[in-house]
Amino acid sequence: MRVISFANYKGGVGKTTSVVNTSRALAESKFKVLVIDLDPQGNSTLTLSRKNPFEHEKTVGDLLSDKDLNIADCLVRTEIGIDLLPTNLNSYNLVSALPPNSAKRIYGLKNKLQELEGRYDFILVDCPPQIEGALITNAIAASDYYVLPIEGESVYALQGVDHLIQAIELIREDTGSKIRLLGALVTMVDTRTKAGRVIKDAIDKYFRDLVFSVVIRRNTTINKANLRNKCVCDLDPKSMGCLDYSSFAKELVVRIDQGTLKN
Ligand SMILES: Nc1ncnc2c1ncn2[C@@H]1O[C@H](COP(=O)(O)OP(=O)(O)OP(=O)(O)O)[C@@H](O)[C@H]1O
Ligand SMILES: [Mg+2]
Repeated sequence: MRVISFANYKGGVGKTTSVVNTSRALAESKFKVLVIDLDPQGNSTLTLSRKNPFEHEKTVGDLLSDKDLNIADCLVRTEIGIDLLPTNLNSYNLVSALPPNSAKRIYGLKNKLQELEGRYDFILVDCPPQIEGALITNAIAASDYYVLPIEGESVYALQGVDHLIQAIELIREDTGSKIRLLGALVTMVDTRTKAGRVIKDAIDKYFRDLVFSVVIRRNTTINKANLRNKCVCDLDPKSMGCLDYSSFAKELVVRIDQGTLKN
């Protein structure tokens, strides 16, 4: 059971899109997958459950704030064959209300996940666009790896990345987590433009072999799928978005299996 957080403090870089579509691709390859939505915006909850996040009775916020609640009682089975631990904006209030020194602010998720040992091959965590706070700390404490989605179209893509990696490293040390960077996933790439190629080169130089060789190209079908609360492969299996996420899921599995990590 591998727990992989998709984290970047920047908003709109493709964290949710990557979690949702990678989970779908892993399930297609017959892996058992759980998605944990740790972002109170509830975007992956909406897409995967196709239900208003507020309609979910038990959320990650309830789980982290109630020591007697079992994780299995909070899970939702989705149409695409993966399980989901949903969230909504109430989770933010529930987690913020935990006492400052409470272990639940750090190890709540890690402890609750023990109950699921052996039940899943991969657990993907959709993180909020933050650099600190109880939700991010819980994600880091519970994760084996993190994937850093980075926007291939933004000239500011690398700004603050050092800070983010250091912040995760500090939380890793403080919490005794095993988390390590699995790789940077370049999203919304447009290498047809000069600017797109310059940004991609800069990202490659920065991350070197930690950049995934699969990139997610900018593709309007991805946007359409998100609008309809669908995975891109369910909207159009021949789209670039579907091909890219299917290839990325394969590379992710290989990276984990072959231990190609050097950091
Ligand atoms: N490859 C892509 N091509 C086109 N549009 C994309 C692509 N990836 C993501 N998008 C669009 O970009 C927007 C942001 O994506 P997403 O919600 O996945 O980012 P996020 O990092 O989870 O954002 P937040 O930090 O707000 O949670 C969405 O409108 C999504 O549909
Ligand atoms: Mg998101």
